[in-house]
Amino acid sequence: MQFRPHSAAQHSWRATPAPRRAEFLYRVGEILRDKKRDLAAIITGEIGKPATEAAGEVQEAIDMAYYMAGEGRRQFGHTVPSELPDKWAMSVREPVGLVAAITAWNFPIAVPSWKILPALVLGNTVVWKPSERAERCAAAFAQVFRDAGLPIGVLELVTGDGRVGEMLVRHPDVRLVSFTGSRENGRRVAVACAELGKRCALELGGKNAVIVLDDADLELAVDGIIWSAFGTSGQRCTSCSRVVVHKAIRQALTQALVERAKELSVDEAALKRCEPAILDAIKAGARRLTTGATLLDNVTAQMPIAQEELFGPVCVIIEVGSLEEAITVNNNVPYGLSSSIYTQDVSRAFTAARELSSGIVYVNAGTTGSEVQLPFGGVRSTGNGWREAGQAALDTFSEWKTIYVDYSGRLQRAQIDR
Ligand code: SIN
Repeated sequence: MQFRPHSAAQHSWRATPAPRRAEFLYRVGEILRDKKRDLAAIITGEIGKPATEAAGEVQEAIDMAYYMAGEGRRQFGHTVPSELPDKWAMSVREPVGLVAAITAWNFPIAVPSWKILPALVLGNTVVWKPSERAERCAAAFAQVFRDAGLPIGVLELVTGDGRVGEMLVRHPDVRLVSFTGSRENGRRVAVACAELGKRCALELGGKNAVIVLDDADLELAVDGIIWSAFGTSGQRCTSCSRVVVHKAIRQALTQALVERAKELSVDEAALKRCEPAILDAIKAGARRLTTGATLLDNVTAQMPIAQEELFGPVCVIIEVGSLEEAITVNNNVPYGLSSSIYTQDVSRAFTAARELSSGIVYVNAGTTGSEVQLPFGGVRSTGNGWREAGQAALDTFSEWKTIYVDYSGRLQRAQIDR
């Protein structure tokens, strides 16, 4: 595979002062703001996301553009005292090099913005491979960067199926792979990167739970569960697919959820993909309470439907007897992206915030709704330690360089001359 002459583009982009690089990002933000409706319409047309959610997704990219543009004047390093006299010691961020951004279809503009914008402001060049299901969205988003005047070769769009992604991962010029997608593909990317000595940042989904304790504001909990389980037809990495409810309020909560779920319409194709898992769960003793936006109860924490990511409008209800049990149920799944708890007791809320094993915890809100100024990512099979968004993204997309300047004019030996 041949890219444009990346070394030239990379050299001049890296040499462009970060505040100047940021000016391109500000322009990207302005253009996105002007084209918000058009881009949202392209998202709706191509992947079927409802108009308000599609507009929210473009807004997220706008937020990220402005946030990361601000980082152009803020890429702080550290200046620390040397242990030796007349010696200066500091650390600075440097770009990693050429970044391969490989993204999924469900957030065809927002998630790419989490990768491309921090990578660019830090001085990296980017090759982006979007999902084959969202190539029109990708072309429209890439055009925004061209309209912002980004120099040629700094961001390249390549399209195709998984084989193109694989070629990118293995391409010798690529130094960092930032991947969002399935756990299986993510593992393949991780193995290839390990063999080739490349950095790889993974975001691989979730099996997210909302815990509802017996002192919760039920109406609030129902709103949060319905929005995070069935918004985007359950096709967010952060979607809630498990409700873990205290036995004292299980019946009342279930009834209220069923009433609300019945009113919803969902992506039928996504639901169809989940049907085999639903049928297996029913065979194992689960009870289907609704069709369409699907709720199941009589589910135990270890059933496959309570363990595996389905990525569709399906949510199971699991009964527990205490906060401790709820935390155990929450934590005993392969994924650890987003968790939520509804309680009015501040000490239970803080205990849960400490003990829930996930990258994101919400108190009295559902499992979705990340904001760009905070880290996004998860533990266990959800990821591999790197984060997107927030200040943490700066670590993902940069290398640290430590610089010592000895102006003593003589040999000084650290640890020895003391
Ligand atoms: C996602 O789940 O990928 C989007 C982030 C969010 O809604 O929290």
